[in-house]
Amino acid sequence: MHHDSTVLHLRNGGTSVILDFDGGGFPAVVHWGEDQGDLSTDEAQAIVVASLPQRVSGGLDEPARLTVLPQESEGWQGTPGLRGSRHGRSFSPNFCVTGMESGPSELVLLAIDADAGLTLRLGLDIDSAGVLSQVLTLTNAGLDDYQLEDLCLTVPLPGTAAEILDTSGRHLRERTPQRHSFTIGRHERESRKGRPGADATLLLCAGAPGFGFEAGLVHAVHLAWSGNHRLAAEKLVTGSVFLQAGELLAPGEIQLGPGQSYTTPTVIASWGHGLNELSGRIHSRLRARPTHPATPRPVTLNTWEAVYFDHDLDRLLGLADAAARVGVERYVLDDGWFRGRRDDTSGLGDWYVDDDVWPDGLSPLIERVTGLGMQFGLWVEPEMVNPDSELARAHPEWILQPGGRFPVEGRQQQVLDLSHPDAYGYILERLDALLSEYPIRYLKWDHNRDLVDAGSTRTGRAAVHENVVALYDLLDELKARHPGLEIESCASGGARVDLGILDHTDRIWTSDCIDPIERLTIQKYTGLLVPYDLMGAHIGGPVSHSTGRRHDLSLRAGVAVLGHLGIEWDITTLTESESAELAVWIDLYKSRRHLFHTGTAVHVDHPDPAVDLRGVVSSDQRTALFVFTQVRASSFYPVGPLRFAGLDDESRYQVRMLVESSTGPDAGQSPLSWSHQPLTLTGRALRTIGVQGPVLFPEHLVIIEITSA
Ligand code: DGJ
Repeated sequence: MHHDSTVLHLRNGGTSVILDFDGGGFPAVVHWGEDQGDLSTDEAQAIVVASLPQRVSGGLDEPARLTVLPQESEGWQGTPGLRGSRHGRSFSPNFCVTGMESGPSELVLLAIDADAGLTLRLGLDIDSAGVLSQVLTLTNAGLDDYQLEDLCLTVPLPGTAAEILDTSGRHLRERTPQRHSFTIGRHERESRKGRPGADATLLLCAGAPGFGFEAGLVHAVHLAWSGNHRLAAEKLVTGSVFLQAGELLAPGEIQLGPGQSYTTPTVIASWGHGLNELSGRIHSRLRARPTHPATPRPVTLNTWEAVYFDHDLDRLLGLADAAARVGVERYVLDDGWFRGRRDDTSGLGDWYVDDDVWPDGLSPLIERVTGLGMQFGLWVEPEMVNPDSELARAHPEWILQPGGRFPVEGRQQQVLDLSHPDAYGYILERLDALLSEYPIRYLKWDHNRDLVDAGSTRTGRAAVHENVVALYDLLDELKARHPGLEIESCASGGARVDLGILDHTDRIWTSDCIDPIERLTIQKYTGLLVPYDLMGAHIGGPVSHSTGRRHDLSLRAGVAVLGHLGIEWDITTLTESESAELAVWIDLYKSRRHLFHTGTAVHVDHPDPAVDLRGVVSSDQRTALFVFTQVRASSFYPVGPLRFAGLDDESRYQVRMLVESSTGPDAGQSPLSWSHQPLTLTGRALRTIGVQGPVLFPEHLVIIEITSA
């Protein structure tokens, strides 16, 4: 900011934020979105002047502008950024800025409301991927308690934002997209489940009508937090349009004593011309983290759908042998190994290997697994306790509860209060002991119920916030004590998918449903936030355990390769030729996982809702792989052209069918002209004209590889 100007222009990664500090209060956010280039002071000032609203009849004399923390004291009549009071007093904050430090793409702002006895710190940053992140810290500088109700971040939207996209969902069908027009008023998505929930919208998106993956200006927010939260899109009659995100606090959950502070989770905001660009920024941000998994994502075998609770050593050894034969690199023993855990009604909390089932401990299995060259991983659900467990009987006070009664059970289980130091200490000791005794390189960390009535017996108050903080500490502590340990975040499938948990873990379990047809939607919309390398995708058995549908291996595998590939199937039952076919898919994944896990995810907006076309393009745009799925029967026959996005218009590419469908209609149709001869086309032709899609049976797919010619 030049000292003769009040305007600050922050830029990075193709994104600009323009702030106007005129007035001494919080700066108005004049623009967030497309990079405005290298602006002179006058040019930046002109953008501000151009944006100033007129006073209108019936309105306040000083029309409010959207600031970094909108307040009623500014004349703001939308939802404010801060709500709280001192037993009713100090209900309407009025901050003045006391200090700021800024760089080309970041800002730290300090502000005080001396009357209310509050100080505030805002940290704002645009990273090299163009993602905007913001964090607020509120401190009680007064002499009595301040009851915080809500502290959220607000970002402005362009006037073109007229349509909202978010996702709902449920167990076995996370991330169901829903769209509606963005009318005046507020569309709010809340989670009150103590975890984001299967129905959580990972992003709340608002964009130009009809925006898709390839086109249409769209902006979105996400809260990097694994507890209760609130995302909202709001439009005022003044024309102000904005998104808000913050933690959802229970009554009395955050009481700030004198000198105490509350820091919001990080709010992530991204934008793009189409969702591919918007998500690509977030994926790049994640991949740039120093903690991002750096090794090739190992092919995983998880025992759950293969054996469930039937922990028989011979059977599990046989599974390990079969896994190694097809090329598995990590073997994960799922639920059922610890004391009293013969089914899902008991045992959670008693984190000792069950001597009855495992008389010689886990070593006989682990030695076989590691001897075969695979890593060993173990399932745990550390935050949970079955009432039928030694732990619950010994320490009922460690169970989250509102006082005087226990919450309604979920999957016959209650939730431990990790903010209780003794409960935390016990869980840390147990997990640390297991990780020290055995060469466990990976934990699948599950969390199988929504929280309700989640209070602490120590304070009598709601304790979701404290539990999320304790969880993050616990994950970090275990990783610090066991360098190289990777952790998967699972919560009845995808009920805890957020960038908060992903700051402390290395993979999310996307859904308990591995039916590939369901997975197409689940993975597409989980992928708005999570890149392929962090998204667990498994090949299940021929008949899906959660839908009863039967699918060929090529569909099950072709949908799973665009992810962190695994197997969840009793592969000891396979014939030689089935094993060989599975091994071919595993080889395909291994030979191309570098592309899948470093390239740009692309979803093509195909006009036919009966098909799906998705893929990945390498960052140098020289290689791409697309999966074309005939999801159900089309009204078109043949299906028509497939266009490919994300390539370089000027480059020439060879297009070839890497994997053809093993079965398909064959009577009455001629061969697809391009499928058996080398075909070279420009990126522009591929994007705008495309190639004829193959005729396929419903629920079948092909894999198309595009390489620079
Ligand atoms: C729910 C998970 O999502 C499943 O994959 C499996 O680990 C079970 N829990 C085990 O109880």
